[in-house]
Amino acid sequence: MDDLYREVILDHYKNPRGHGVIEDADASAEGVNPLCGDEVSIYVQFAPDGETVDEVKFSGRGCAISQASTSMLMEMVVGKTAQEIAELPKEELLEEVGIPLTPIRLKCALLGLGVLKVALHRAKGTPLPQEWAGLDELELK
Ligand code: FES
Repeated sequence: MDDLYREVILDHYKNPRGHGVIEDADASAEGVNPLCGDEVSIYVQFAPDGETVDEVKFSGRGCAISQASTSMLMEMVVGKTAQEIAELPKEELLEEVGIPLTPIRLKCALLGLGVLKVALHRAKGTPLPQEWAGLDELELK
């Protein structure tokens, strides 16, 4: 079973979904994994209702796990509202990733989700879960 998940991860890593930049994005943030220095930026465009994610993209560099999990995240959040994403439990993304992760790898897998929540927090004032609160400190810009 692990093999299948590994294949999916590799596919997302090699062909990341939603890779790129949205110019004039409605919401954006950049975050760094302090353990390795890898960075992810996320850009969000809302639908006309101003709440539903219409388009989301990411750029940056990182290991296979961080890039693949962020790519998976891009697919998960289109059509969701900022509030729904703010409430999205990290377990849901980890389930998508599907393989057991060491605590260090866990930070890789959750980098994109943290950055997205920070972007929405800034743009829409959605709450940041306690565990992400520190991410505000990680913002470079
Ligand atoms: Fe840097 Fe995974 S090693 S994000």
